[in-house]
Amino acid sequence: MYKKLINKEAKLAVIGLGYVGLPLAMAFAAKLSVIGFDINEERLTSLREGRDPDHEVDPDAFTGKDILFTSSATSLQEASFFIIAVPTPIDAYNQPDLKALLSATRLVGNVLKPGDYVVYESTVYPGCTEEDCLPLLEQISGLKTGVDFKIGYSPERINPGDKEHTLVNTMKIISGVDEESLDVIEDVYALVVKAGVHRAPSIKVAEAAKIIENTQRDVNIALMNELSIIFDRMGINTYDVLNAAGTKWNFLPFYPGLVGGHCIGVDPYYLVHKAKELKYHPKMINSGRFVNDSMGGYIGKKIVKKMIEQGKNILGARVLVMGITFKENVSDIRNSKVVDIINELKDYGVKVDVMDPLASSDSVYKEYGFSLIAAPESEYDAIIVAVAHKDYLKLEESWFLAKTNKQGVLGDIKGVYRGRITQMGYWSL
Ligand SMILES: NC(=O)c1ccc[n+]([C@@H]2O[C@H](COP(=O)([O-])OP(=O)(O)OC[C@H]3O[C@@H](n4cnc5c(N)ncnc54)[C@H](O)[C@@H]3O)[C@@H](O)[C@H]2O)c1
Repeated sequence: MYKKLINKEAKLAVIGLGYVGLPLAMAFAAKLSVIGFDINEERLTSLREGRDPDHEVDPDAFTGKDILFTSSATSLQEASFFIIAVPTPIDAYNQPDLKALLSATRLVGNVLKPGDYVVYESTVYPGCTEEDCLPLLEQISGLKTGVDFKIGYSPERINPGDKEHTLVNTMKIISGVDEESLDVIEDVYALVVKAGVHRAPSIKVAEAAKIIENTQRDVNIALMNELSIIFDRMGINTYDVLNAAGTKWNFLPFYPGLVGGHCIGVDPYYLVHKAKELKYHPKMINSGRFVNDSMGGYIGKKIVKKMIEQGKNILGARVLVMGITFKENVSDIRNSKVVDIINELKDYGVKVDVMDPLASSDSVYKEYGFSLIAAPESEYDAIIVAVAHKDYLKLEESWFLAKTNKQGVLGDIKGVYRGRITQMGYWSL
């Protein structure tokens, strides 16, 4: 298989060209003949023009690549090595939503031939690849894994917006249905991952490794959020405490904040789902989820209290929220917890303007039902810097003073202006 791919006698297909699939497909397309499959025509049009709608892949990176962007299922017949990188979100009840994963599996099952490889990259609970996807692949293709075709699981570890830790320089976990498949999967990934691969002993281990990376972060951030609530009652600043504690060699650097997006706030629910099936009800993991999911409402209330302290009339007060993306320096607004702050403020009768230089106002409107303002107005009662975008870091107190009325409040969620605000009411986590 490896030789055929290298000699371009066989093609590699990536199904799902989002944050994970596109950089991967582009990296392989520098060495192999690649089919990039997606169901979103708008995205495909943009990719054919050499533009990544998520801005993770530079326009230059599109030149000279051997890649076909397509939504045609029949084009997939030409592929022999399939990588599935479709979304694995949760539903309204925080349960895994496997619709896209199973639909992509059916798609591949329909074109699978003897000798082919299927590697899953989507984040799933341990057991999902072999218990949910594999039976479907076998049923639809009429082929048997291990005998006719091979499967594997290799979780993605990219961090959107992070140009330092990339696909190329981050060790990749790989797993396969047997030793032979592990060898082939290792050779294929070694083409693009310079940091090397870690051979997990089983597919389930590889799935579990991925899910606990984000679960660990979620629980640790929840602890920081809880500490922040306690320290707020004590009148001490959490970041001051963390700076002091961080001088010890084994104190882990986690910080309080909103946990949104499609990984840290979602993956733990996949693990909880599987644990419950095994009759274990996780307490730590669920507590972490509870604390982190409550932070937006908590922050909204704290800002309202701070405004009251400053003598503000809350009903009809005007607040500017800066930043709507799920984290700093990305354009992705899905599962943004800033919306919880906004909704809390609106519940109190506060009028809220929202701006973000990286987010698309249309996408925000489609997802949350309000538009972004292009530029800040003045006479706000409070400003909340909800996301620490690079451009926001250099703002000085004079900038905030010019946009607020007397006794204005600055809500600094990530504590980036700590120690620099002397003339306004100030609150940070
Ligand atoms: N974004 C991250 O930082 C990150 C990191 C590690 C792992 N993951 C995991 O990787 C997977 C993909 O995440 P993402 O952030 O790239 O998602 P995404 O939403 O950015 O992209 C997914 C792409 O898949 C396409 N798609 C949806 N259903 C499809 C289908 N049935 N067939 C073909 N294409 C389909 C969508 O149109 C979209 O372009 C998820 O399981 C996620 O949890 C994401």
